[in-house]
Amino acid sequence: MQAQSMLSGSCPNYKIPSIPTFKNPFFSSLTSNPSFHFFLQSHNYVSFKTHHSPCLKGFLKKLLFCVNTTENDVFEEKDYKKPQFVKRKKLAVFVSGGGSNFKSIHEACFQGLIHGDIVVLVTNKPDCGGADYGRSKEIPVVLFPRPKDEPDGFSPSDLVAALRSLEVDFVLLAGYLKLIPAELIRAYPQSILNIHPSLLPAFGGKGYYGMKVHKAVIASGARYSGPTIHFVDEHYDTGRILAQRVVPVLANDTAEELAARVLQEEHQLYVEVTAALCEERIIWREDGVPLIQSRENPNEFS
Ligand code: GRF
Repeated sequence: MQAQSMLSGSCPNYKIPSIPTFKNPFFSSLTSNPSFHFFLQSHNYVSFKTHHSPCLKGFLKKLLFCVNTTENDVFEEKDYKKPQFVKRKKLAVFVSGGGSNFKSIHEACFQGLIHGDIVVLVTNKPDCGGADYGRSKEIPVVLFPRPKDEPDGFSPSDLVAALRSLEVDFVLLAGYLKLIPAELIRAYPQSILNIHPSLLPAFGGKGYYGMKVHKAVIASGARYSGPTIHFVDEHYDTGRILAQRVVPVLANDTAEELAARVLQEEHQLYVEVTAALCEERIIWREDGVPLIQSRENPNEFS
């Protein structure tokens, strides 16, 4: 789509959040406020507690390793024209399940296809496949929301402070099943994406997740389905649509077969969209619709 005339200037959506008090709460808290929450690693995931510091030194080392160890130093970004003046972005990924989207984004960061790095994984299921994968890659894993009777786990404000302290630029929901708190949405305007396995606005909203989506698509008689990536607002699946891919629904499809076909497209689409996000190629049309600017031809938008 040639969208130049519809754009509200050529300003990309990316804004570095700048709340001075959160500039670096993680480190400043260590010196200025001994009772401030800080990170430690326990039970294989990172928790946010008060008055606990035994593992702090080790964790800090590990955290800094994760944040600063630029496997991107090892992998050359040779597959595309490196954005000249674009800062490499820091990503937080949220998962509740197997984490195959998380894995494909993580691999794409390593391969230099995405101008960014995953610096933290957030989950409500510390034993899920995605969390296991994160730990195996030495990515800090955060439990959110805090389960009942569970001292570990983050409150919404803990979470926002943690993401700020890690200087996270963008949040990617990849199969995270909990509603995102308003506090996080306010802290990261136009900076949180979700992937949904149907062509929104069809088959979305509360209750449409996992196989339920694909069963409903098949039962409806729809001949096409596919993933949607959209910005996140305070409701399920209603934020502005950024990208979609179409796959056929075949006459004899089971929900599992359709899910596998859609998931394959999800992996490619989420990598492409995350690459655009990190290269600041998301442009907001005047009517509020986000568009992706082509890397090859900056006058082309989709
Ligand atoms: C995907 O189908 C995604 O669209 C939905 O949850 C699923 C996550 O799969 N939101 P995985 O955990 O990335 O394998």
